[in-house]
Amino acid sequence: MLMENSSSSHLFIAFFSLLLTGVLAKSTIEPCSGSESCPALLGYTLYADLKLSEVAALFHVDPLAILAANAFDPAVPDVEDRILPAGLLLRIPTRCSCADGIRRSLAARYRTRPGDTLAYVASSVFGGLASPDQIREANSIPDPSALDVGRTLVIALPCACFNLSDNFLPAIYLSYVVRPGDTVPSIAAGYSTTATDIMNVNAVGGPAAISPGDVLVIPLPACASTLPNDASDFGLIVANGTYSITASQCVQCSCGPGNLKLYCTPASLSVSCSSMQCRGSNLMLGNITARSSSAGCSVTSCTYGGFVNGSIVTKLTASLQPRCPVQPQIPSLTAPPTTLVHDLFLAPTPLPLPPQPGGAMPTPKESPKSSSVPGEFALPGVSPAIGPDSGAAMASSVSPLDDHGREMLLLCLFLRFLL
Ligand SMILES: *[C@@H]1O[C@H](CO)[C@@H](O)[C@H](O)[C@H]1NC(C)=O
Ligand SMILES: *[C@@H]1O[C@H](CO)[C@@H](O)[C@H](O)[C@H]1NC(C)=O
Ligand SMILES: *[C@@H]1O[C@H](CO)[C@@H](O)[C@H](O)[C@H]1NC(C)=O
Ligand SMILES: *[C@@H]1O[C@H](CO)[C@@H](O)[C@H](O)[C@H]1NC(C)=O
Repeated sequence: MLMENSSSSHLFIAFFSLLLTGVLAKSTIEPCSGSESCPALLGYTLYADLKLSEVAALFHVDPLAILAANAFDPAVPDVEDRILPAGLLLRIPTRCSCADGIRRSLAARYRTRPGDTLAYVASSVFGGLASPDQIREANSIPDPSALDVGRTLVIALPCACFNLSDNFLPAIYLSYVVRPGDTVPSIAAGYSTTATDIMNVNAVGGPAAISPGDVLVIPLPACASTLPNDASDFGLIVANGTYSITASQCVQCSCGPGNLKLYCTPASLSVSCSSMQCRGSNLMLGNITARSSSAGCSVTSCTYGGFVNGSIVTKLTASLQPRCPVQPQIPSLTAPPTTLVHDLFLAPTPLPLPPQPGGAMPTPKESPKSSSVPGEFALPGVSPAIGPDSGAAMASSVSPLDDHGREMLLLCLFLRFLL
């Protein structure tokens, strides 16, 4: 019953690109009206070894926000210059806006380089999230075979808000490009969600009805906030297992793993911040004291009330609870990887991972800038030196568009109202 309710609350446009080869790449796009945007995530597979700061520039997002969305440790030295390996699947936070009646993220920009083609930009640089046709339309490109070098393209990317809920629980939606070998259950398992949820949200007919290159939206369980709407971080929502940095980098709000209550503490970044002590107490933001008595447990906590007019609001709350709460857990953070670590979706042969002392940086391989060749879709950064490990990952990041660079696209729009 819950499921039926959930599917009826979603409206779909399935968007198909019909390739000459007969391959259908579909993506789920949410119709919308008004001008409200929401936070969303993009599942992006790196097409080359890229610095964190380069990925951030591509998607026009704060590098710190990428670290937070991936539960990476911001305290790693020179973290923005850290080279992330080709084939790595990252979560990129973005704003999901409403443009021309559908949800999309319009933050990404790309400056064309010699030899670029729309297919290359769409399927390699943007990891299959973008479609060549949408780039062409969004930028009014008359002749896609003659891209002006040095032109800045606006890249529209699929995203969804769906009221930031799934089955009436807070959720944030991740746009996910289906890889070869993916099944709906395997994707669901990788994201702490269910196959039924994914099928409902995307109006997928069955567990087998997805193909590599399709863009699905995956509801990720999240912690919602209850910040007042005059706070600049009103609407803050954080996916389970990750964190978010807010209040001019002074506050870190974490979600999970124990429960889905947003838990905010002072961020330990090197910025100067005003006091985060709760007025009238000696508790700091995030501090919780509990004292049990015969009546139960009296709990006092200093919680985050938003970033209002440039100042950090803290709230002291006291309550009597039947049992004393456990100290909140926060997600464990890792250093951003410099070599490809197998994830659930990649090659079936897990190789022993080399120890990662964190110090050794791989030498930058060939720069992505030099290797885009017209009509060729060789992915830069792939060299035998990376080993079989990432070779498999690279293969799986190649969408059908890569294999058929010159196909024509036919677009059909389907509207499905599941009410
Ligand atoms: C959106 O979610 C909020 C609570 O999260 C709920 O109050 C509201 O009714 C929902 N709106 C729609 C259109 O489902
Ligand atoms: C949140 O993530 C943790 C692992 O990080 C998982 O054990 C837990 O089940 C997740 N919670 C929900 C509600 O998905
Ligand atoms: C209170 O919060 C501060 C900042 O997070 C932390 O350093 C301190 O250990 C906390 N104190 C208690 C008693 O939890
Ligand atoms: C923030 O500033 C506006 C005007 O500058 C004021 O009306 C409002 O009361 C302030 N809010 C708080 C919480 O101080």
